[in-house]
Amino acid sequence: MPLPGGAARRVSGLLPVFPWDRLEPYKATAAEHPDGIVDLSVGTPVDPVPELVQNALTAAADSPGYPTVWGTPALRDALVGWSERRLGASGLTHRHVLPLVGSKELVASLPTQLGLGPGDRVAYPRLAYPTYEVGARLARAEHTVYDDPWELDPAGLKLLWLNSPSNPTGRVLTVAELRRTVGWAREHGVLLVSDECYLELGWEAEPVSVLHPDVCDGVYDGLVAVHSLSKRSNLAGYRAAFLAGDPAVLGELLEIRKHSGLMVPAPVQAATAAALADTAHVEQQRARYAARRSALRGALEACGFRIEHSEASLYLWATRDEPCWETVADLAEHGVLVAPGEFYGAAGARFVRIALTATDERISAAVQRLKA
Ligand SMILES: Cc1ncc(COP(=O)(O)O)c(C=O)c1O
Repeated sequence: MPLPGGAARRVSGLLPVFPWDRLEPYKATAAEHPDGIVDLSVGTPVDPVPELVQNALTAAADSPGYPTVWGTPALRDALVGWSERRLGASGLTHRHVLPLVGSKELVASLPTQLGLGPGDRVAYPRLAYPTYEVGARLARAEHTVYDDPWELDPAGLKLLWLNSPSNPTGRVLTVAELRRTVGWAREHGVLLVSDECYLELGWEAEPVSVLHPDVCDGVYDGLVAVHSLSKRSNLAGYRAAFLAGDPAVLGELLEIRKHSGLMVPAPVQAATAAALADTAHVEQQRARYAARRSALRGALEACGFRIEHSEASLYLWATRDEPCWETVADLAEHGVLVAPGEFYGAAGARFVRIALTATDERISAAVQRLKA
């Protein structure tokens, strides 16, 4: 149907079909279970927002004026401080950080904000968070997937996404792999953007940032890391995330984002600063996920699943060596909803992604159902 004014659906027409709609019939089946659905299909936090973060939010509730896109000096201090402490980066200034309204908006709009377009290429992992492709499509740039980034053809390549720990596989890139990728990107003048939003959720591997000196030698040219508080601090509902890295890239984005009004609300800025100053709640949340992960993993393996990678992140990447929709359908019959691996690329067609983001009660219900 044409839009008012005769405009065609020129932008939404660029985008793939929203995949989650295809899961709806399975959700309906799972919801018929007498003890209710266990929804492990999406990675949305279910545990409380830490009290100290709620307190910081409410203390800043009286914020009548416009916030700034770059954030308050207190927020920038917090972003720099956390990046230095947690990522091991050194020598960062306020020009090395930039707040985001959650990281998804950046992933979807970065190619457009960088002015990429037809003839430019954006690359991301073969199995990946679908929004990297969406961002390339919205800019009308080309997109390409890789197994090893240094095998890519650099012609026309302007933006290279890394994602470690990976959604959906939970794979963690080693320092050697990160170093080699940084060297390759620098050699070919490609901007390297590393999505590290699961960095605090390493289980059998210690995720390392692209900003760590062992990876980048303390030189941030052409390097940007993406961080989010959604998973680390149960703040998906607040939309709290940020970039750290090359001041030249961040300065350009700041100009564009100022004109676009991409401001983090002032109370969320205050809450973000409070959350980054605290590690106790991160440890507490990690312990919850570790227990859920171990219970689910044991139950899945006992009933014939093989788990690949999954050494970090909020997911188990599992297969029964059958088409993913068969696994989705069978688990839905047991009242458990999981995501088909195909959502993350054709290479995932025989895997499902199982999220750890359900309450302890729902995880034990899933474990009981898998045993049955
Ligand atoms: C790899 C990856 N990047 C970015 C995001 C977006 O997170 P947020 O917008 O909540 O910061 C997600 C969310 O699931 C993700 O899995």
